[in-house]
Amino acid sequence: MRAELHFHLLPGVDDGPTSPAESLELARLAVADGTDTVVCTPHVRDVDVLTVPDRVAALQVQLDAAGIPLKLIAGVEVAQDDLATMSEAELAIASHGPADRRWLLLEAPLQLDADGLLDAVADLTARGYGVLIGHPERCAELMAPGGRLDELRATGVLLQVNGSSLLGRHGQRAQEWAFELALAGHVAVIASDAHRPTRGPVLTRAVAAIIAAGVDPAVAERMVADTPQALLADGWPAPTGPAASTDSA
Ligand SMILES: [Fe+2]
Repeated sequence: MRAELHFHLLPGVDDGPTSPAESLELARLAVADGTDTVVCTPHVRDVDVLTVPDRVAALQVQLDAAGIPLKLIAGVEVAQDDLATMSEAELAIASHGPADRRWLLLEAPLQLDADGLLDAVADLTARGYGVLIGHPERCAELMAPGGRLDELRATGVLLQVNGSSLLGRHGQRAQEWAFELALAGHVAVIASDAHRPTRGPVLTRAVAAIIAAGVDPAVAERMVADTPQALLADGWPAPTGPAASTDSA
C-alpha cells in the first residue's frame, strides 16, 4: 500500500480542509488512490505544533467511525524560518522513526532563499535529524541553471517531489523540473501535498506520468509505497545524530 508523507488533512488549521467533512472527503480520496497511511503535515507557522497529536487522534476517531480505512500519523511541514523558534518537544512531534534514525519534512522555499534552506539542513543534521526536502522542484534557486541543487543533495537529504507538480498544477517550470529530478533518479518520494478535494491525492496519476516518461514502473511505485512506508517504520536509511556525524567525519 501507498503512504503519503506530505498531506494537509487536518481541518481548520492551515490552508488545508476547512471542515471535518472536507477532511473525510479528502481521506476517502486518498484510500481510493491506493493509500493506507497519511502523515498529517500542517504548516508549522499556522498551528500550535504541540496540539497536532491530539488533533490527529480526534480526526482518526472520525475516520474510524466513518469506516474509512486510513491510518493517520502526526507530523508537520517545517519551513526554514520555523526552526529558530521550534522547541525540542515540537521537533519530536515533527519527526519520525526510531531514536537514532529520526527525520522530518522541510519544505523547499517558494519565496525564501536557498542559503537559508542549506543553513536549516545543516542545523537539523547537527541536531540529529535526517531531512526530507518537500517540493524542491518548486524552488527556482535550487533548480534553475547554476542553482544549489547539487550542493543540497551533497548534504545527504532525500527529495520529495509533489505529484501535483508532475501533473502541471504548479506551472510549467515546476513540472519540467519534477520530471527532470525523477528521470535523473534523484526522487526518493512522491507525495500529493493535498490541501482540499479539488487539490487532492494524485499518487496514481503521478506514478503513471513518470512511467510514461520512462521511469521503470517498479521504481516509480517504490517512490509512493515502499520508500515512504520504510521511512515511517524504520526511520532514516542511515543512523542520524552526533554519533553518525563522528562516524562519517
Ligand atoms: Fe505542504
